[in-house]
Amino acid sequence: MILLHIEASPKGDHSYSSRLARAFLEAYKAKNPDDEIRTLNVFEHDMPAFGKAEAFAKFAPIMGEARTAEQESAWEKVKQEISYFDGADKILLSCPMWNYSIPWPLKQYIDCLVQPLETFGYDFEKMDHVGLLRNRPVQMILTRSSTMPGDYNDFQLPYLKYIFGAIGIRDVRAIVPWATTKASREEVEAYLSGFETEARQAAENF
Ligand SMILES: Cc1cc2nc3c(=O)[nH]c(=O)nc-3n(C[C@H](O)[C@H](O)[C@H](O)COP(=O)(O)O)c2cc1C
Repeated sequence: MILLHIEASPKGDHSYSSRLARAFLEAYKAKNPDDEIRTLNVFEHDMPAFGKAEAFAKFAPIMGEARTAEQESAWEKVKQEISYFDGADKILLSCPMWNYSIPWPLKQYIDCLVQPLETFGYDFEKMDHVGLLRNRPVQMILTRSSTMPGDYNDFQLPYLKYIFGAIGIRDVRAIVPWATTKASREEVEAYLSGFETEARQAAENF
């Protein structure tokens, strides 16, 4: 089995979401020693910027048009991202909330993955997306400093659940430490250690 850890905080060792992901992975590795763990930090990953060439390449086959050489070469890189992602049997996504949503490089990564005819189709009768990737488990660890899950301004968890579902991945589990800003270091430690326990337990059943 291959587990892909998509890391969406730029804060390295100081990141709360990455720290909880490490607790998850320690427990996961102890239980599944033969599995391969791959890490992709979206802040460090060299991925297509998804600009003009990619935007035209995306719609060319739907509009019955041939891609130009520039669009074709841009599209090859997009397909490489999809192929690497699709090579994972399980996904761990650790991600802070940024302005009620997700950090911009994660959106850029999602813009590479979500493609008509590659990862989703469209059911014209139901007027809805049909995911084309095989379903697989996704563990999300989503940190925030104050936004409660389920609140009207939570555009992180509902968006991530929707967009994974749109490409066929519906087995989404989430751990949401939503009050990470505390008055003291001790309070942060106590808060995070509770979620480390939760992350280890989640790894046991992943
Ligand atoms: C640019 C930026 C925007 C943020 N926006 C929000 C927000 O909208 N709501 C919230 O509750 N916390 C927000 N936060 C706080 C982080 O989500 C919180 O500190 C989180 O625990 C950081 O996780 P990390 O240490 O893994 O990066 C923001 C932080 C940054 C840096």
